[in-house]
Amino acid sequence: MRVIIEKNYEKMSEKAADFIASQVRRKPNSVLGLPTGGTPIGTYKELIRRYNEENLDFAHVTTFNLDEYYGLPASHPQSYYQYMKQNFFDHINISFNRVHIPNGMVRMDEVDAYCANYEELMKEAGGIDLQLLGIGGNGHIGFNEPGSSLGSRTRIKTLGQETRKDDSRFFENDIEKVPKAALTMGVATILDARTCLMLASGKGKAEAVKQAIEGPLTSQTTGSALQLHSHAIAIIDEDAASALERKDYYIYTEKMRAELEGDY
Ligand code: F6R
Repeated sequence: MRVIIEKNYEKMSEKAADFIASQVRRKPNSVLGLPTGGTPIGTYKELIRRYNEENLDFAHVTTFNLDEYYGLPASHPQSYYQYMKQNFFDHINISFNRVHIPNGMVRMDEVDAYCANYEELMKEAGGIDLQLLGIGGNGHIGFNEPGSSLGSRTRIKTLGQETRKDDSRFFENDIEKVPKAALTMGVATILDARTCLMLASGKGKAEAVKQAIEGPLTSQTTGSALQLHSHAIAIIDEDAASALERKDYYIYTEKMRAELEGDY
């Protein structure tokens, strides 16, 4: 995994926006996989700025969101549908018929067929070119909680208590208000993307980041599955990098990469 360590949250967000913007400029009809949460907000802000000030064009981009709370209608203020509209889609020229966010209100007896169709839609779109990811404090990617199969595909997943506690900050700090399950892309779905970009910021993520990047490949830290991916890049700030044992090596290789790119 390539590991890029940036000074702080702002620099991490700018770097992530660099990768996404160059993907979209290189291939205007790119298919992007997108997360919600606190981590990518700065990246979305920076992409909106580039749309407004640098002609970054999303008119032909297709998106698939990683997940949605099960049981929340799209109109609910805490749904990921609302999050995406407020933090990104309402501010760029994306066409809503190319936006895909799992529907958290699918009837339980239709969930399996719905999730299989979500996978089908990704395939029909040509597969995900770039999947942006955050990582949970327990090492999850998407809502693939510890113990999720590394071969999992889009499905319904019960949320662990730790994740519900983390997310209660969006639900008046009341864990009882946090949905008990989510529809989420699986680990194998995520690994199908051509590039995976994992972001992390803050000391609270340091242990999860260490486990995902340097720990053993294990379903107990689903982020570690990125070690199997041939083009996975972690963009993390110094606080999130603080527990990495090989931090100096990652900094060195990025410096060498920059020098080599300058030479050729
Ligand atoms: C969100 C998602 C989750 C988050 C993770 C980190 O769509 O799939 O895996 O990326 O829980 O959340 P934050 O960024 O809020 O710390």
